[in-house]
Amino acid sequence: MNEPESRNLTWHPEAIEPGARRRLLGQKGCVVWLTGLSGSGKSTIARATEKMLIEAGHAAYVLDGDNLRHGLNGDLGFEPKDRQENIRRVGEVAALFADAGLIALVSLISPYARDRRRARQAAGAGRFLEVFVDADLATCEERDPKGLYRRARAGEIAGFTGIDAPYEAPESPDLVLHSAEQSVEQGAREIVRELSRRGLLEAPPAGEEVR
Ligand code: ADX
Repeated sequence: MNEPESRNLTWHPEAIEPGARRRLLGQKGCVVWLTGLSGSGKSTIARATEKMLIEAGHAAYVLDGDNLRHGLNGDLGFEPKDRQENIRRVGEVAALFADAGLIALVSLISPYARDRRRARQAAGAGRFLEVFVDADLATCEERDPKGLYRRARAGEIAGFTGIDAPYEAPESPDLVLHSAEQSVEQGAREIVRELSRRGLLEAPPAGEEVR
């Protein structure tokens, strides 16, 4: 947890027991964190996963980097410090979603391993899934869905991830999706399968102690 600026704060504990939301929603709140280059397919896969989960009766919500930069993170650019703050905020929001019992599907380039590690810490052990959407730069650049690689190559955008800003690939992600060889549906299915394998898509048996 980050140290708050203010000292005069009191942490208010929850009044409900930890398993109550899990039983109510029939799932364990968690964070699915999709990281990868721009154009790797993170957002498309996150949306497809959200749809698949909702259709199966699960409460899921996508937190998308591009979208959040219109509101919550509208004051941030792409300098390393701003990206760090972007990821910190989204990590905290995703952790709150998970606390509320939801499945938060985060789609952020999140190029720095340290920032992703902090997001994992914010969510807590056992409820963070790092998904590396692994498409090589050549593939992303060829797709160039927003025309940004072309503009970065032309020198119109400075500090573009993969061109003149770094991307630190995850060393031990929970799941790797090869979006160049796999369909969006396949990727979404793999995520859902992994959530299910970890027991996150079910309520605990009645009477069982839950954390
Ligand atoms: S992050 O690095 O801070 O995690 P985030 O996922 O929020 O990035 O936003 C990335 C999106 O912003 C890209 O998909 C692209 O549309 C846009 N973008 C604009 N400028 C840049 C840049 N310099 N580097 C990467 N993406 C950029």
